[in-house]
Amino acid sequence: MLSIRTETDTESSGAQAFDARVRRELELKDTDPAVEYVAELKFDGLAINLRYEHGVLVQAATRGDGETGEDVTQNIRTVGQIPLRLPSGVPSVLEVRGEVYMRRDDFEALNERQRQRIAQGEKGEKTFVNPRNAAAGAVRQLDPAIAAQRPLSFFAYGVGEVHNGKPGDSRFATHMELLQTLKQWGFPVAAQVDIAQGAPELIAYHQHIGAMRDQLPFDIDGVVYKVNSIALQQRLGFVSREPRWAVAHKYPAQEQLTTVLGIDVQVGRTGKLTPVAKLAPVFVGGVTVTNATLHNEDEARRKDVRVGDTVVVRRAGDVIPEVVSVVLPADQAEAERGPLFTMPHVCPVCGSAAVREEGEADYRCTGGLFCSAQRKQAILHFAQRRAVEVEGLGDKLVEQLVDAGIIHTLPDLYRLGLTALAGLDRMADKSAQNIVQALEKSKQTTLPRFLFGLGIRHVGESTAKALAKHFGQLDAIMDASAEALQQVNDVGPVVAESIHTFFQQPHNREVVEQLRACGVHWPEGDPTSAGPKPLAGKTFVITGTLPTLGRDAAKDLIEAAGGKVSGSVSKKTSFVVAGAEAGSKLDKAQELGVPVLDESALLEMVHDRA
Ligand code: IVH
Repeated sequence: MLSIRTETDTESSGAQAFDARVRRELELKDTDPAVEYVAELKFDGLAINLRYEHGVLVQAATRGDGETGEDVTQNIRTVGQIPLRLPSGVPSVLEVRGEVYMRRDDFEALNERQRQRIAQGEKGEKTFVNPRNAAAGAVRQLDPAIAAQRPLSFFAYGVGEVHNGKPGDSRFATHMELLQTLKQWGFPVAAQVDIAQGAPELIAYHQHIGAMRDQLPFDIDGVVYKVNSIALQQRLGFVSREPRWAVAHKYPAQEQLTTVLGIDVQVGRTGKLTPVAKLAPVFVGGVTVTNATLHNEDEARRKDVRVGDTVVVRRAGDVIPEVVSVVLPADQAEAERGPLFTMPHVCPVCGSAAVREEGEADYRCTGGLFCSAQRKQAILHFAQRRAVEVEGLGDKLVEQLVDAGIIHTLPDLYRLGLTALAGLDRMADKSAQNIVQALEKSKQTTLPRFLFGLGIRHVGESTAKALAKHFGQLDAIMDASAEALQQVNDVGPVVAESIHTFFQQPHNREVVEQLRACGVHWPEGDPTSAGPKPLAGKTFVITGTLPTLGRDAAKDLIEAAGGKVSGSVSKKTSFVVAGAEAGSKLDKAQELGVPVLDESALLEMVHDRA
């Protein structure tokens, strides 16, 4: 059986190099048209050759070393998707090549059954690392009765020997035609096959499949490109056992095996405790992973992850790495494993009680802002770009400030002087000055940003905006009853209760008062329903750097006052707001005669609520 050139290259240059090789071998000139390819999925299973004589399956073999495969006919006969008999009219000798694989849902169900068997003390049972291992194990199972219980599937992707008595008489003009014929004869062919003209379309296929890979019901480890024309395939021929007309392009592996070194519990901004597996470093999904979330106590227990276990770690796309499952080797005595994971009933950072409320999956530290972990997260949340935005205040700095006891509460941020900052490890005078300036700048904000920054549970950016729009003023929100809060769009009983409870706490009101006393401010308005907005019907374009307002803050201000913000200047633009280093948009405004405002003129308009 043939093998195939595999390139782990995930760069588009791989397809270009392949296309260039093919064109060189075929002695094509640059002016000749693009070569036509078929692009297919590279299934992650076990390669199988199915031999039919006079339409009857006579033998199924694995690839083995390419020369001699293993005869697995008995087991393959139990795979429902593989026809045992073919319709009349097929060639008298037909070898179909394809991949036996296991669907992800079938794999999950199989492993679940295996876990139950192990739990019931059945000897010699184990769980499988991934669908490929499970499929390969099932095909090679010595007992066909057991193989039959393993849910296998099949995709055809090519042929071997095909003739009606005299070898060599291929009856297909193209690879695509071959695939379509196999489908007609009853073999499953994946729906994701495509014709591609030249390298650019191969690259587009590679990217498209890469993006939807996680939505497929089965695993793939790459894509395969094949020259479509069988005549061209024959001209290209082989180097040793590898065809010159096909190449595989792999994706980075999304799953790897590693060992659990420990299980830590991390404390989030809202006090949520998250168990995190500390792992022996592994390269997976393109990065080195040392931590993987176990989500919560139930998940950790359901997966039964223990220190010392071998686990499958998955990192797909930009998703945070997670432990998929534990790999239990056959005959590992339960006593040899570490103890069951249990969630601590006190916060690992501050020692306050950790409780799990009824109907909730998470344990929470009850320490609130007394807990330094929550304090750090709360400060970072308040300072982030989408909240009041304190540029340059990152997690390292917050960690130092909280650990050194310099910051206890949010208002302490605004009491930070140059001396305190400059005294910190690795803090240059210039950086300290920048932080002080950024803090000053952050004082001018908007009500939605401030509200979001407070970190009230269930209050994200859009809820904060809705609240600001409805009530207009912070004091009205702080004093609103849960019923009144529920009048706001998208605020249900749980969110309303959370906001109400937050502002009923004297220490939270104190934080708000102190922040205001430190100079944090925003334009307050009337509820949307009452009265017209000063900027209603006006369209603004912002250009250049404004002296105190960030781009987002200026936009929020204008929108809060009923105006619109657009990206380009036209005759319909009412005003251009220009700051330092304003460029072509300012020129355009002058050209069209659109009035130009500076920041203070904008602020005057906004505050002018006649
Ligand atoms: S074609 C002449 N097409 O990848 C080329 N192989 O070949 C022979 N594989 O274990 C292979 N999906 O089983 C081809 N769509 C596909 C494939 C595919 C998976 C496997 C094949 C073999 C490995 C390398």
